[in-house]
Amino acid sequence: MTGYCKRSPAGLPGLQRLALLALILGLTACGNEQAQLELAPGQELYLRHCASCHGNQGQGRPPTFPPLAGSEWMELPSEALALIVLLGLRGEIEVAGRTYRGYMPPMQHISDEDIAQLIGFTEREWSGREPRLTAADIANIRGAFDGRRPPLYRKEGLMDALAELP
Ligand code: HEC
Repeated sequence: MTGYCKRSPAGLPGLQRLALLALILGLTACGNEQAQLELAPGQELYLRHCASCHGNQGQGRPPTFPPLAGSEWMELPSEALALIVLLGLRGEIEVAGRTYRGYMPPMQHISDEDIAQLIGFTEREWSGREPRLTAADIANIRGAFDGRRPPLYRKEGLMDALAELP
């Protein structure tokens, strides 16, 4: 019995190697599976740029990251969603009955076309409407706030920015 106990730690590295191999095989299998999944238009962009905080299903990660699914913010005009993505958002806000005090960074590095696509995906999924913003619309919104660097401050900041749009 004691002999067995003494020997078992020596066996661990081998077991660990096996576990690592199983993990690698498992990860590779998962990767293949994911590549075969059918994605909706704009979904790949959503997963790349938004899902790390808002979740693959838009469920968010309360109390830090608010959801998009079931969020009243998704009922705002499409331009408001574009402004949030382009300028970022900070300060205390209410989403689906919870208070958040977070910071969403501005994402000016995403192209107009990609922003139009990914907002379209969120609207089809969580606003229940057909998207209407084109890449040209995003370019106009981007242009209107050129040089305006600080992220939107609370819902009031968003509404002010929305009202300033030509
Ligand atoms: C780094 C994390 C992060 C990423 C990435 C991110 N967001 Fe956010 N987002 C937040 C946080 C935090 C808030 C809340 C900010 C606050 O409390 O003022 C927020 C708020 C929002 C809101 C308004 C509140 C709500 O939940 O409805 C929308 C809409 C939104 N984000 C859309 C997006 C979209 C679309 C993307 C992808 C382009 C994205 N976000 C990427 C962190 C993130």
